[in-house]
Amino acid sequence: MRQLKRVFLLLICMGIISFLPNLVRAAVNGPCVNCHIMHNSQNGGDVDAGGPYGHLTKGNCIGCHTGTNSGGGTSTGTIPYVYSTTEPEYGTTTLAGGNFYWVADNGGNNDTKGHNVLGLSGQDQEILDSEGAPGVWANCAESCHMTLAAEQTVYPELGSGCEGCHLAVKHHKSGSTTEGIADEEDGWFRFCSGHMSGGGHGVEGIEDDDWQYETASDNHNEYLGNAVNATTTAGFYNLGNTMTAYCCGCHGGFHVQDDSGSWIRHPSDAIIPDSGEYAAYTTYSPEAPVARPSLTTVSSTVTPGTDMVMCLSCHRAHGSPYDDMLRWDYDGQVAGGGGDDGTGCFTCHTTKDD
Ligand code: HEC
Ligand code: HEC
Ligand code: HEC
Ligand code: HEC
Ligand code: HEC
Ligand code: HEC
Repeated sequence: MRQLKRVFLLLICMGIISFLPNLVRAAVNGPCVNCHIMHNSQNGGDVDAGGPYGHLTKGNCIGCHTGTNSGGGTSTGTIPYVYSTTEPEYGTTTLAGGNFYWVADNGGNNDTKGHNVLGLSGQDQEILDSEGAPGVWANCAESCHMTLAAEQTVYPELGSGCEGCHLAVKHHKSGSTTEGIADEEDGWFRFCSGHMSGGGHGVEGIEDDDWQYETASDNHNEYLGNAVNATTTAGFYNLGNTMTAYCCGCHGGFHVQDDSGSWIRHPSDAIIPDSGEYAAYTTYSPEAPVARPSLTTVSSTVTPGTDMVMCLSCHRAHGSPYDDMLRWDYDGQVAGGGGDDGTGCFTCHTTKDD
């Protein structure tokens, strides 16, 4: 009887635990041999002709992260695939960052559909390396700001290609296991760090367990934001540990967005007004995510007057089937009841489709 009671109690506890949010920091798991190789040698020959690789890994970033997503998550040891060699189903087999398929030379091969990244695509032929990232500050016109499609030699200690953006790669995260927020000790949100964020230089966020393979209003990443005020101009260098600051590390000029009282570029990290058409965006849409002034937990609601529009409200970080790596088909967004009502831009501009 006692034994039964114990089993019963244990089952109840397990039940409760499985309903608690996943507080354990995501980290690689599984046998070392799955991911590491000690000498890149077997029977006297190379195992991988491209190797050996740093940290004794079997393959490089692209090698491990190429494939077709079919679910899973950090708790199951699944690899998040960011490049599929056959066209993925956008929004179904793609993750939060989208997919490099559409920009890759061996994929869609369309320069406007993603970041052109070393190992996947050659130089963007419409945005040349001499011009650099659109919005780049003139005095930063070097290194990874100019192109991600070539080995950057100006600061070799910072990476090239994937590592031009994922500077703080730390697969065996050793950070806090309790707070649930990816920050500096975890190698930042998705290992994203750069400039424009001031001290610490990285992105803080809450990482969705399956990288948004599945999404719903209560099932998604959370991003930190830092509200811009009316006089946001050039010259500042401390936007906080936000996703917008991160993008602006290379596209800094796009944060010069207010010209004393009126927007001159679409604002990022501007508070969604608690008035007019904006006040109706209250159920979180993973199609047009928002940034939060502080992070606590994953929330299914948007609070106009508090939450912000940001770079990733409209763009994918890696690539998409749409020009300018937008999250949706901009050409389909037609004012006045023309099409795609309720989606994309209309998520916030809720009356422009009327
Ligand atoms: C699922 C893949 C995976 C598994 C399993 C794995 N590693 Fe790693 N490990 C990586 C990757 C990728 C890196 C690359 C550098 C980084 O992210 O820090 C790495 C880096 C490392 C590093 C250098 C960086 C650091 O954090 O100290 C060590 C040491 C290491 N692994 C040891 C191990 C050992 C020992 C095991 C088995 C007990 C193991 N790894 C299992 C993927 C894995
Ligand atoms: C040996 C295979 C391997 C290599 C090499 C590798 N990764 Fe990973 N990576 C993994 C696995 C497995 C995961 C999933 C870990 C988890 O469950 O959080 C992962 C997760 C990630 C994530 C998501 C982290 C998160 O918070 O969920 C990023 C970003 C990433 N890798 C970037 C890179 C970059 C950039 C490189 C090259 C420097 C790289 N990876 C090299 C296997 C690899
Ligand atoms: C322009 C910067 C940039 C480049 C280049 C880049 N990433 Fe990412 N990556 C990001 C950002 C930002 C996120 C978070 C996306 C989100 O939350 O919407 C991310 C997310 C990820 C994830 C988690 C899955 C997801 O979609 O959220 C993995 C894995 C990853 N990147 C690997 C890579 C690999 C491998 C490469 C090189 C082929 C690469 N990244 C190149 C910025 C970049
Ligand atoms: C390390 C520098 C770097 C970072 C960080 C970076 N970008 Fe870029 N971005 C570039 C470069 C270089 C180009 C021009 C070449 C290309 O398209 O890859 C570019 C191009 C773009 C384009 C135009 C794509 C096209 O070909 O038309 C968009 C949109 C974009 N970036 C958005 C973002 C967003 C959103 C973020 C933050 C998640 C971000 N970038 C972070 C360097 C960067
Ligand atoms: C409200 C949606 C929205 C937001 C927020 C947004 N963008 Fe864009 N972005 C677009 C659209 C739409 C285009 C392409 C058409 C156009 O410019 O009207 C574009 C184009 C771009 C381009 C390509 C420019 C070129 O010269 O080809 C880059 C780079 C870019 N955005 C980066 C960013 C960065 C960085 C942020 C955050 C600071 C950001 N965007 C925020 C909607 C947005
Ligand atoms: C996540 C919410 C969000 C999305 C998605 C969004 N916007 Fe906005 N937009 C805003 C906010 C917030 C402002 C600033 C409102 C204010 O301060 O009055 C704004 C301002 C604007 C303005 C200037 C309005 C003015 O009063 O000067 C235009 C034009 C605009 N957006 C067009 C677009 C287009 C086109 C798209 C789709 C490509 C888009 N927006 C997507 C939130 C969004």
